[in-house]
Amino acid sequence: MTTDALSHVHRLVPGTDPNRRPLLLLHGTGGDETDLLPLGRAVAPGAALLSPRGAVLEHGRPRFFRRLAEGIFDEADVRRRVHDLADFVLAARERYRLDAPLALGFSNGANIAAAVLHLRPEALAGAVLLRAMVPLTEPPVARLDGLPVLLLSGSADPIVPAENAARLSARLVGAGATLEHHVLPAGHGLTQADLDLTTAWLARH
Ligand code: MLT
Repeated sequence: MTTDALSHVHRLVPGTDPNRRPLLLLHGTGGDETDLLPLGRAVAPGAALLSPRGAVLEHGRPRFFRRLAEGIFDEADVRRRVHDLADFVLAARERYRLDAPLALGFSNGANIAAAVLHLRPEALAGAVLLRAMVPLTEPPVARLDGLPVLLLSGSADPIVPAENAARLSARLVGAGATLEHHVLPAGHGLTQADLDLTTAWLARH
């Protein structure tokens, strides 16, 4: 059932496997809290799924932060939304008695997850970033202290230039993340290789 009892409208699917960390599912532009539930179930069977809806509307389409144009972000809004989302995660953990989640974000959802890693990494146990780009001009302020991150980029992604994905990768490593970065023969959309790599990585974390 979708609920808006916390700051974000969200779904919570309780976990059935106590050895699995919860997943924080973060959808792409125009998605909602139901979008990534099938993906979460497929890549982490038995994990609790916490799936908020982005609180920003762009022509009626939910997102996790405002942008000025394609790939040009309203960074003041990014910062504000990072704190809102991190605070939501803390409140949801308390309400539902969840361990710190691994974020699983796609596109705009991957970008807000990358921004959380820049500003509030303690909200997450790690992250899978699917087609993420650099979310903020300034590099991370916090040390990531070995936080595990899987970054999957597409070599033919028309939204995320290869240089941008490489810059994000270098930043995360520079901040101390334990990063696995794969550039797949893909565009912005997900492929079977994304699912296979994500499933294998989540089984190890
Ligand atoms: C963004 O705005 O976060 C990125 O351009 C990805 C997208 O949502 O299209």
